[in-house]
Amino acid sequence: MKLILDTDPGVDDAMTYFYAHAHSAIDLIGITSVFGNVTVDNAYRNAHWLTQTTGATADVRRGAETPLQITPNPPSDYVHGPTGFGDVDIGEVAIPPQDETAAAYLVRMAAASPGEITLCAIGPMTNVARAIQADPAFLDNLKQLVIMGGSLDAGGNVTTQAEANFWNDPHAAEVVFSTPTETEILVVGLDVTTLISFYQADFDELAAQSPKAGGFLRDIGQFYMRFYEEVTGTYQCYLHDVAAIIAAEQPALFTFEDTRLQMVCDGDAIGAMRRSQEPDRPIVRVAMTVQSEAVRTQYKAVAAQNP
Ligand code: BDR
Ligand code: CA
Repeated sequence: MKLILDTDPGVDDAMTYFYAHAHSAIDLIGITSVFGNVTVDNAYRNAHWLTQTTGATADVRRGAETPLQITPNPPSDYVHGPTGFGDVDIGEVAIPPQDETAAAYLVRMAAASPGEITLCAIGPMTNVARAIQADPAFLDNLKQLVIMGGSLDAGGNVTTQAEANFWNDPHAAEVVFSTPTETEILVVGLDVTTLISFYQADFDELAAQSPKAGGFLRDIGQFYMRFYEEVTGTYQCYLHDVAAIIAAEQPALFTFEDTRLQMVCDGDAIGAMRRSQEPDRPIVRVAMTVQSEAVRTQYKAVAAQNP
């Protein structure tokens, strides 16, 4: 699978990166950064650090700094730490000069290899929306779009109805859901991701098998699990973004509801995702059930292949 990760790293984003990097059937060709869990400057820096620390050749591009229309929400430093990697300070990161934006990169790469690239978008949808606005054929040029975001029946995680990625840019998600395309779109949201827990014992197991990557993930995971302990009462975290990449390559671990979607873009429910009856919208596949234990096991088996 030729993969581009659109991401706001972020603890579970970093977990997803290490999965994609280690997977023998995934060719991670690019990382596009976006504001969300952190500022875009931190997301871009963290993306560079991830590639540099693993000796990866994936392209890295700086993406959107702000949402399409709403006033930006502050970064989720209370979830992912002040710079995105919990309490861990990664220090100085060398950032090579680069003028191409994330949206321009996405458009160019998809147009150069029509039907070949899977885009896994695990932050706000702003870069994806900007790519669609720049090139109406962008979605058609992808092999598949897999999104971590939203919630159909499970309620929200930032407000009672809104999931964080879509709440941070509801108009961008609306651009995606209102653009007709034949390309398969998977939406992996809170209906399934809040069923997939990862515990201290899982991080310890990973760190034992993969001291460098697993040790790093265990370290950054502490801050993230402290946040979820406050919310759920248990010292654990959810594999939100990881679920999206695993859904892309192991869809049999999930069941999907095929439906059209629309976003609530104002009012109290801003950021909420709803079923739509509008016939012009593409039918997307929303993950509704998951084999949680199998996803957790799959994650560890692949991520442990890192050094
Ligand atoms: C999403 O928001 C962020 O906190 C995570 O990285 C994930 O992409 C979950 O709602
Ligand atoms: Ca994310």
